[in-house]
Amino acid sequence: MQKIIITLDGFSSCGKSTLAKAIARQLNYVFIDSGAMYRAITLYFLRNHIDWNNNESVQLALQAIHLDFDYNDSTGSSDILLNDENVEALVRDMLVSEHVSEVAANQYVREFGVAQQQKMGEKKGIVMDGRDIGTTVFPHAELKIFVTADPAVRVERRFKEMFAKNPNITIEEVKDNLEMRDYIDSNREFSPLRKATDAIVLDNSNLTREEQLSTALQLVKDRLSAL
Ligand code: DC
Repeated sequence: MQKIIITLDGFSSCGKSTLAKAIARQLNYVFIDSGAMYRAITLYFLRNHIDWNNNESVQLALQAIHLDFDYNDSTGSSDILLNDENVEALVRDMLVSEHVSEVAANQYVREFGVAQQQKMGEKKGIVMDGRDIGTTVFPHAELKIFVTADPAVRVERRFKEMFAKNPNITIEEVKDNLEMRDYIDSNREFSPLRKATDAIVLDNSNLTREEQLSTALQLVKDRLSAL
């Protein structure tokens, strides 16, 4: 069967990765979490005290960064590797979450991320989630989904996820971080978060995971039969 490119964009904590992963598993496609790439770059910058407002330092630092994904049997998805080190757990840390939007707004970081993501899609058969996948990375993707959810639902979901790892976290901290990231992601100069004009909106505030997956699979079916 013909393979296509499926993009999922949207604000933080809308459940994009969970849905993208489920679609990929069902279709036997490759799932790529583009946010993990920006998170790994942020981790590298924090560890090496790189000033992400200094373009010269950023360009130099990027030359020393090699990103890769490694399939993890136990989670059924791919872990992010930073210079061959598995940093999947580390990149979910609050410190990384606090700075990733600022790092991801840098022009050179974006060029670096986008070029690698486009390479990953050369053979199609890919589901990629992020902020600019349907607009900048794959503007000609066959199926673009823009995932949304009620802000209160997103805060609640993210809080549950973070609380499991860090019981000291407060709901206010999670809310502030989400609001800050949404603002920076939507207002940055290069590749801001936008709904592609040809993207289909999927509001999952009141949908179960199964309902979201069946809605998305129906969209895939419709798209494939229209090709
Ligand atoms: O999806 P996430 O929350 O793991 O993404 C982390 C950050 O990376 C997010 O705040 C914005 C940035 N990002 C981006 O700018 N472009 C993407 N394609 C994916 C993520």
